This record gives sequence, C-alpha cells and structure tokens, in this order.
Amino acid sequence: MKKTLLLRALALGTLAAALSGVALAETGHHMPKAEAWSMSTWNQTVSDMPQGDAIKGADLHREAMCMTCHGDKGQAPSRNVPSLAGNTIEYNYKTLMDYQSGLRNEGDGKSAVMAAATHNLTKQDMADLAAYYAQFAMISQPAIEQVDPAIDRLVRKGDASRMIVPCASCHGAHGEGNAITPALAGQTAHYFVRTMQAYKHKHRTNDINEGMAQFTHDLTDAEIQALADYYASLNAK
Ligand code: HEC
Ligand code: HEC
Repeated sequence: MKKTLLLRALALGTLAAALSGVALAETGHHMPKAEAWSMSTWNQTVSDMPQGDAIKGADLHREAMCMTCHGDKGQAPSRNVPSLAGNTIEYNYKTLMDYQSGLRNEGDGKSAVMAAATHNLTKQDMADLAAYYAQFAMISQPAIEQVDPAIDRLVRKGDASRMIVPCASCHGAHGEGNAITPALAGQTAHYFVRTMQAYKHKHRTNDINEGMAQFTHDLTDAEIQALADYYASLNAK
C-alpha cells in the first residue's frame, strides 16, 4: 500500500468504527450544512473538475474500502446500497463532494458512513473514482411484463396537476441519466425508495434548485415503490 493510501486508510478509522457498528449510529442534523449549489457555482466546479484516471480509481475503490459495500465494479451487492456503475462522472463527483461537505446528509447512519468514507478524499480522488464507476453498467432486474399505465404516464408525461415533470425528460428515456442527473435503470429498489422518501421529507436537499423535493412532494408511497420497481427492471441500453 502506498504511503498516501496508508495515511488515508488510517484516517478512515471513523469508517472502520462505523463498519463495526461502534459509533456514528445517528448523527442527526448537527453536522454543519454546506452552502447549497447554484447553477453557476456548479458550472464553475465542473469546469475545474480534474480529469479522472479510472486505473487509479480502481485502486482507491479497493483500498478505501468502497468495494466492501458497493461491490467490485460499483454494482451494489446489497439492496441497501446504491449502485454507482452507470452514473456519469459528473453525478458521482458531485455526490461525493456533497457527502464530504455535509450538504448531502439525510440525518441517518447511512449518510454518516459516506461522510466518513469521503472525509479524506481529494478532488482528484473523487474524479478518479467517478471515472472508474462510469465504465460499468448497473445490473437490472428482470423486466416487468406489464408496466402499470399510471406509472408509465408519470415517467413519460408527468402530472401537471401535481407539478410533476416527466421523470424521463431528465433521467432519460431508458433511465440512463445525463450529466448531473443520475442513472436510474438498474438502481436497487430499496435504495431508490429510501432516497425518494428523503427528498419528499426534505432530508435530502443537495440537488440544485431542489427539483426532486417538488417532484416527490405529492407522490404516494405506492407510487414511489412502483417507480422503484419499474426503474430497477429497466435496462439503460
Ligand atoms: C459501509 C458501507 C459503505 C462504504 C465503505 C462506502 N459506501 Fe458509498 N454508500 C453506502 C450507502 C449505504 C450509501 C447510500 C447512502 C444514503 O442512503 O444516502 C452510499 C452512497 C454512495 C454514493 C451515492 C450514490 C447515489 O446514487 O447517489 C456514492 C457515489 C458512493 N456511496 C461512493 C462511495 C465511495 C467512492 C466509497 C469509498 C471511498 C464508498 N462509497 C464507501 C455505503 C458505503
Ligand atoms: C427536472 C429534472 C428532473 C426530473 C423531472 C426528475 N428528476 Fe430525479 N433527479 C434529478 C437530478 C438532477 C437528480 C440528482 C440530484 C442531486 O443529488 O444532485 C435527481 C435524483 C433522483 C434520484 C436519486 C438517484 C440516486 O442515485 O440517488 C431518484 C431516485 C430520482 N431522481 C427519481 C426521479 C423520478 C422517479 C422522477 C419522476 C417522478 C424524477 N426523478 C424526476 C432531476 C430530475
């Protein structure tokens, strides 16, 4: 292990504690929230983003223990953990920055784990990791034979009466994602539901302009579950 990585591994002591279930269970919202993004601060950040090196990202993925939770290629082995494969470099880069800064903090142990995991990453590390995951695709569940027409309508047409813009207009016709919009095709349904509920209840507020809070505001639990099952079964290609 190279020296820098060793230091980083030592600094990940907090993460090790979280892994062994000792500390960090509920940090609540006392972590200071970083300043919210505007389109212009984000544009500046993305233009300053270092070129990612996927080979270095692969090493870091193993050595910083990302692999233990997110799987060998960022294809989640557990329903509780999101797949990172298939997401654009920009999205994963932004999300890593948001965990590090505390902007993405849903107030549960899961955000705390990611805050610890990103604590010592440099911008270059985040770009390298993001480049690594971008090479792979999520693993989709078997396709749903008959998609509920109401869900299909939400995805393709939205619902003007509830101010819901069509999911597909941002997340892509095949859930493939784009720039800072995450891929949804093949995302684990359990994580999908949790994060949609977090947007709905304003525990997840790291997105620019907080559009997702608006689109989830009037969705029912049943709709959120059905959208999760639909996207889990979708194939981005
Ligand atoms: C102990 C398990 C664990 C470890 C180790 C871990 N993660 Fe995570 N990661 C999670 C969980 C759980 C979530 C979802 C958290 C939530 O619900 O907000 C997550 C979320 C993420 C996300 C957001 C995905 C999305 O779709 O928004 C990214 C990116 C990520 N992790 C990357 C990493 C990287 C890179 C590392 C290593 C430096 C790492 N993780 C280490 C468990 C882990
Ligand atoms: C106007 C564009 C837009 C629309 C419409 C939209 N989204 Fe999103 N969505 C985003 C962006 C951007 C993010 C990432 C926010 C962030 O964390 O920076 C996101 C995040 C998400 C996430 C979190 C994914 C992850 O990996 O953490 C889910 C799930 C999601 N959206 C589902 C939906 C569904 C379902 C719909 C339709 C009901 C929808 N979105 C409509 C732009 C949109």
